[in-house]
Formats: sequence, structure tokens, C-alpha cells
Amino acid sequence: MQVRKAVIPAAGLGTRFLPITKAVPKELLPIIDRPMLQYVVEEAAEAGVEEIIVVTSRGKESIASYFQPRPELEDRLAGSGASDLLESIQYVSSLAHVSFVIQEEPLGLGHAVLTASDAVGDEPFVVILPDDVVDHRPGVISQMLDVASKFQGGVIAVEQVPWETIHNYGVVDAEERDTRTHFIKQLVEKPAREDAPSNLSIVGRYILPAEIFDCLERTPPGAKGEIQLTDGIQLLLEQHDVYAYEFLGTRYDGGTPMGLLRASLEFGMAREDTGDEIRALIRELANDLSDD
Ligand code: UTP
Repeated sequence: MQVRKAVIPAAGLGTRFLPITKAVPKELLPIIDRPMLQYVVEEAAEAGVEEIIVVTSRGKESIASYFQPRPELEDRLAGSGASDLLESIQYVSSLAHVSFVIQEEPLGLGHAVLTASDAVGDEPFVVILPDDVVDHRPGVISQMLDVASKFQGGVIAVEQVPWETIHNYGVVDAEERDTRTHFIKQLVEKPAREDAPSNLSIVGRYILPAEIFDCLERTPPGAKGEIQLTDGIQLLLEQHDVYAYEFLGTRYDGGTPMGLLRASLEFGMAREDTGDEIRALIRELANDLSDD
């Protein structure tokens, strides 16, 4: 299955990262030297996505700047022979065509996706949340496209979480159909431990048909006045098969300071240019702790 377009919602308030998100969009916070947003753009491009639609908000103009060329900086880097750096700043714009739509108010993830409906049009598309960062090759979207092709339906990424934390998550009620793949009967938001139909929690990757837009139009706002994507998908289930897929790879919660710190350390350890130094740093810190 080929999907041409990806929607990346990036218009949230990022309150769990205040005060930094007062001035810097959460989606631009770095893992080592690249913003979280870039990792998900790379994941989409790897899966064959050609067009990225970033949903952003007023005051987050730096997100668009990140994708624009910087001719003076490029000339300077070229002039000083810093070809690696030059490549690194040109790379992100070479991955896919990136466009932006504005969500005027942060009225929820479902509302953010609905804001992109004209830009997506009448074709299946993927939604990727930039603060769910997953380290794996092939990427999660590539893995999910294989599932979408095989089962001819929508796909939501899920992962198993400890049962005692289940009340924090959106969970799927689903029947296993294949290795790591489950047919979704319904979605349950933040269930109590005893009511939870599974411990498969929803992660920020979705392959959805264009019918989701009509469902989101019909989705009433929830408690905080927000339109939830899971409520829209619940309506979609009445007319469309959707599967939950337990992806391969480790997910980091880049939406919280501790999650981003962990991602930075683990990605840094895996990188050739930073791995040795980061391992040495962690050993040094661990020694300091054991001396205490
Ligand atoms: P989160 O649920 O993490 O919300 O959104 P948030 O506002 O970014 O962060 P907190 O909870 O206040 O700390 C997941 C993704 O959906 C986007 C966010 O930008 C983030 O990438 N989003 C969320 C929107 O685009 N619009 C919204 O109205 C809400």
C-alpha cells in the first residue's frame, strides 16, 4: 500500500515542557542535535511519503523556519569547507515536500487532524505525533503500511504497557488476527484496571482513510472542549476496518522532560559520533552515584 501524505500535528501547547515551550515549540526540542520533528519526517520519508503537512499554530513560526533554506548560512558553510554541516542543514528539506496549516486554537488532536483535511483531500494518509519517537529500522510507518496492505484497513500503532498504568492510556479492545496484529472492536479511553479490555495502548502513529474527516466533523468535543482523534476513530469503526499493530522498536515519550532525556541518551549511545562519549559520561555519573 502506498500512502503519499502525512499529517504531523504540532500545534499543541506543550504544557508538560513549560517554561521552555513558552518560546520554543516542543516539536523542535532536540534529541542530541536534531529536533524531534525531524526524526518523524525521516520516518515518513523512509516509508515513501512525499508530502508532509505540519499542523502548527500562531507563535510557532520557527517550525516553518526550520524547513526553509538559509542561503547566507549555506554560503558561509560552503565557503569554509564545512560540507558535513552544509549537508545536515539541507538534508531535512530534501526529504519530502513540507507544507503548513494553522490550527487557530489548540482544540485537541482530532481537531488538529481535521484542520489538515483540505490539504490531504480524498486519499488515505498517515498521522505521526512528533513527540512519540521510535528507534527502529524499518520505521514504524513502513511496518504499518505492510499491515494496511495485507489487511486492507486502517492501522493504529499500539504497545503493551504495564496493567497497573493502564488508566493513563487510550486502549484497544481487539481480537488477534496475525502476529502482532489485532482487529479493533472499540477504543477505550483511560480505563480503570478492572475494565481495561487489553493492555495495548495507542501510540502516535495512524494510517487512516479520508472518511476519518467526516467522522471528526461529527465528533462532539470531550470534557476539556477538545475533539479527540480516538473518538473520531471510534465512529470510523462503524464503517471501516481498523487494525492495531504492535510495532517493532522502542518508543520514547518525547512529550516529557524525562522521556526526552532518556531518548537523547539512548540515541546518542547508538550514534557513531557520540556513542563512546555518552557511554563514558554515563559510567562517570554511575560511579559518582555509587560513591555517594
Ligand atoms: P499532546 O497530547 O502531547 O499535547 O499532543 P501538547 O499540548 O503538545 O502537550 P501537553 O500535554 O500540554 O504537555 C500530541 C501532539 O498533538 C499536537 C501536539 O503539538 C503534539 O505534537 N496537538 C495537540 C495539536 O497539534 N493540536 C492540539 O490541539 C493538541
